[in-house]
Amino acid sequence: MKFFIDTANLEQIKEAQDMGILDGVTTNPSLMAKEGITGTDNIMKHYVNICNLVDGDVSAEVISTDYEGMVREGEALAELHEQIVVKLPMIKDGVKACKYFYDKGIKTNMTLVFSAGQALLAAKAGATYVSPFIGRLDDISTDGLNLIAEIRMIYDNYGFETEILAASVRHTMHVIDCAKLGADVMTGPLSSITGLLNHPLTDIGLEKFLADYKKGN
Ligand code: E4P
Repeated sequence: MKFFIDTANLEQIKEAQDMGILDGVTTNPSLMAKEGITGTDNIMKHYVNICNLVDGDVSAEVISTDYEGMVREGEALAELHEQIVVKLPMIKDGVKACKYFYDKGIKTNMTLVFSAGQALLAAKAGATYVSPFIGRLDDISTDGLNLIAEIRMIYDNYGFETEILAASVRHTMHVIDCAKLGADVMTGPLSSITGLLNHPLTDIGLEKFLADYKKGN
């Protein structure tokens, strides 16, 4: 299972990268705005900074909602760095643009996916990643994890190679449940990754080992 971090915050990206367990980064316009990164030039520079911090794929989202605009923007983003994955919205023109980038050998991430049917379309269009938003489904009392299970079944039925990128992960149990269901990737905040470290028996056990070592020395 690949671990992506869902942020545009360079310190948090560096912290996850330094742990040696980071496989990539996802961003979106809201995450950029949260870090105060505004204006096309600054946003483009920030993507390059992120790519220079990590080894893996970095999803960069287009703002256009029409096919021509998505192609233009996506090509500019892909030219920024070899690690860039063009992130496209799950709308008709997004699917068409996804197929365009597939034919050109440019990686894509179909975002804002909330149903199995949308995930099927993403796979048909040759998306590298499909991003079902599990947290936002949970927010409206719909089972986000069930969507991961449905997509896994459908993709396995036909051998689709599109990777299931469980997005809108909010906490450690989302990560563990997505791993059980066979999601290929998860993207979440730093806390959903570092939270996996926590167990009181680890802390108690380590404390005792260190105390016993001191007794004998
Ligand atoms: C995915 O790529 C999105 O950036 C993200 O996971 C959305 O998460 P949120 O629902 O917590 O905003």
